[in-house]
Amino acid sequence: MWDFFAEELEALRKRALDRHLREISSAQGPEVVIAGRHFINFSSNDYLGLANDPRLREAAASAIDEFGVGAGASRLISGTQSPHLRLERALAKWKGTEAALCFSSGYAAALGTIPALVTKNDVILLDKLCHASLIDGAKLSGALLRVFPHNHVGKLESHLEWARREHPGKRVLIITESVFSMDGDLAPLRELVQLKKQFGALLMLDEAHAIGVIGLNGRGVAAAENVSEEVDVQMGTLSKALGASGGYICGSRTLIEWLINRARSFIYSTAPPPAIAAAGLAAVDFLASPEGEKRRLLLWERIRLMRQLLPRAGLEEEDAAARSAIFPLVVGDEKAALDMAAALQSAGFLVPAIRYPTVAKGAARLRITVTAAQEEAQIEALCEMIKRRGC
Ligand SMILES: Cc1ncc(COP(=O)(O)O)c(C=O)c1O
Repeated sequence: MWDFFAEELEALRKRALDRHLREISSAQGPEVVIAGRHFINFSSNDYLGLANDPRLREAAASAIDEFGVGAGASRLISGTQSPHLRLERALAKWKGTEAALCFSSGYAAALGTIPALVTKNDVILLDKLCHASLIDGAKLSGALLRVFPHNHVGKLESHLEWARREHPGKRVLIITESVFSMDGDLAPLRELVQLKKQFGALLMLDEAHAIGVIGLNGRGVAAAENVSEEVDVQMGTLSKALGASGGYICGSRTLIEWLINRARSFIYSTAPPPAIAAAGLAAVDFLASPEGEKRRLLLWERIRLMRQLLPRAGLEEEDAAARSAIFPLVVGDEKAALDMAAALQSAGFLVPAIRYPTVAKGAARLRITVTAAQEEAQIEALCEMIKRRGC
């Protein structure tokens, strides 16, 4: 019965594509403990160091005192508790949209939202480097799916012309990310907005790696580029810079009401624990405060330091200024990337090797992430080690 899977696993191992869990026996932070040893952590999306922040811990603890642990039911039955609604109101205010809706994860937000917006007679145009959650949501919708080369505005335009010609009157949804999760580069958002307006398409933007990092008070690229109102569906997650857990969609009141009625991952799933919503709310409040903005600016100091010190070889855009907290050091070969990550780990640095299918075959990389919680000396030490090993 299991022979087939065992053989497939062996085949994965031979191609250096097998994956394993590693147990972290400490809280998330700039240092983590694995098997009793401390490692400097360059693998986390906790960009502002909020995952173990006292403000979030206290918010969660006091929500547990008041509301208990589980939500007990789905949001539409009796699982909507005050922290959920408080969080949604705060998210909408922070993002400057009419309304917001929370899901149990960013993945669930994509999986529920995309099929609620387009169906098998419609068209989706998706950037080639979009996250798996967006790809899966697009496939689940049954809409005609066309992938355009990464950030290629010209190709997107020709796809839009094709859709108008071949599928007149059908809904067209453009899906992209503002900061790409494995490359750290940004979408040409203004040009995308221009095109979506020209062709009457809808635009969905996943700001998972931008919020908390980019734009005043970390409101993301759409806000920073002053095009928030033109982005129809603003997606994000509370699980990265916001240090908690859960996905969200921000947009018009009509969009949110529609998702409450049609997004299956929202309707048919127990509401997120109220304490997690309370922690998310504490994170949003922090980001919107002067202290939160100070933390974000500290993150940018660290990002600039990393850009300055990290050897350029392997970096995709050699001369570009750092644009996010993600630094991909592209190695190519899967086994070589694993060996490099293992060498760094034995020197005390946790840097993940990212391989196919998360990135294309032969485009394996070390994905280094910077957080505001890291010390300058930790960043200097990593860069020194990378230089010494000639990575
Ligand atoms: C770009 C992007 N979108 C969505 C997600 C999913 O978010 P979550 O981890 O909250 O499910 C992730 C994270 O893995 C991501 O990197």
